[in-house]
Amino acid sequence: MSDATQFDVVVIGAGAAGLFCAAQAGQRGLKVLLIDHSERIAEKIRISGGGRCNFTNRDLDPRAPQKHFVGENPNFCRSALSRYTAQQFIALVDRHGIAHHEKHKGQLFCDGPSQQIINMLLAECADGGVIHWQPCSVKSVAYSAADGGARRYQVDTSRGPVAAPNLVIATGGLSIPQLGASDFGYRIARQFDLEVIPPRPALVPLTFAGEGWAPYAGLAGLALPVQIETGAKKERMAFLEDLLFTHRGLSGPAVLQISSYWKEGTPLTIDFAPGTDVAAALGEAKARSRKRIGNELATLVPSRLADAWVDGEPALQRPINEAADRALQALAERIERWQITPAGTEGYKKAEVTAGGVDTRELSSQTMESRKQPGLHFIGEVVDVTGWLGGYNFQWAWASAFACAAAL
Ligand code: FDA
Repeated sequence: MSDATQFDVVVIGAGAAGLFCAAQAGQRGLKVLLIDHSERIAEKIRISGGGRCNFTNRDLDPRAPQKHFVGENPNFCRSALSRYTAQQFIALVDRHGIAHHEKHKGQLFCDGPSQQIINMLLAECADGGVIHWQPCSVKSVAYSAADGGARRYQVDTSRGPVAAPNLVIATGGLSIPQLGASDFGYRIARQFDLEVIPPRPALVPLTFAGEGWAPYAGLAGLALPVQIETGAKKERMAFLEDLLFTHRGLSGPAVLQISSYWKEGTPLTIDFAPGTDVAAALGEAKARSRKRIGNELATLVPSRLADAWVDGEPALQRPINEAADRALQALAERIERWQITPAGTEGYKKAEVTAGGVDTRELSSQTMESRKQPGLHFIGEVVDVTGWLGGYNFQWAWASAFACAAAL
């Protein structure tokens, strides 16, 4: 094999993690080949954050990753997140003169288009002399080790064979297949006998069965702040965020966040008036008002929701001063603790990320290298580490890429 096809490291997948890892490895003096099968580079960065790339989160505490990351072992990401922090990525963004702002809950967005982050990563790759092959598909990966221990990954690509002692898999998850997502990473993991936690869509809208959902379909487009919960006791998760009614179900940040924790067949509990004692407010209205119940409820929640909640309930079609206490209590319960069981999710087409992936027990948390397959690394979303909405997934991509590159 000629020098031209011999590298120190081949990185497969030129998304967030792959670009950053290739740049870091190149800047450390390694000869790096970065391969991607898509025509366009880093499409998920381009569309992220509504086109403004929510590139990290200031609130991320690397000492407590379980606060913002989901997976079989959220503590796995502690080491990488501590060694490459949100502040370090912000410093890089600042060095490249990219203006940014904090939206809410520590979320940092570009002031301009996400393309600025892609340009920054490409400039970092250029600094490291990274060679790009794109579009280029990988046909097969083979491993051999010489008697002396010299290892070699032979990667057969649509542009010919290449070889390197180190292979980094940064091919992401399954979400948004139209942007080039593939199961390549999971297939390579299985080829080398690594366990994969079954992938599933996460940060995804939830859907509800046709007939049961019919009374709420008319609320499509309504958005309001809610408290949403799932799970019992130790597994209970709750978010205080905005919820959006859609034609098929529920979306918005509250629902995307809870979707990463929701288990099929289990209910969600939603408080449509967080921070308000609805029973007390209705009781107080009953004592002083002759308005209809729906109108009084509309002072506590949006009127479209109030109408939907009293419609079809004969006991609620009257002035509030004539309402039975029991009927008002039941109404308050349905506003504060509405229980509904999703039928499923909108799937990978609409999921921002994929939960599950390469089992973290297979990887070193220091280097992202496989424990049983020397020189084989997995970084970014392909690993069973899933962040909350709000820049956490990109920070995992940067941090895992950095940890990997530092160890090559
Ligand atoms: P990523 O998906 O970025 O890259 C994988 C690359 O591998 C792609 O370029 C793909 O073409 C390539 N590839 C796949 N299969 C291949 C194969 N067989 N051969 C060669 N190449 C292959 N996160 C966040 O923190 N803030 C945000 O604002 C958002 N916003 C957001 C919006 C939307 C609509 C989505 C879908 C996702 C987000 N995310 C996000 C999530 C974030 O985009 C995601 O977690 C990271 O991009 C993951 O980075 P990776 O590099 O691991 O995969």
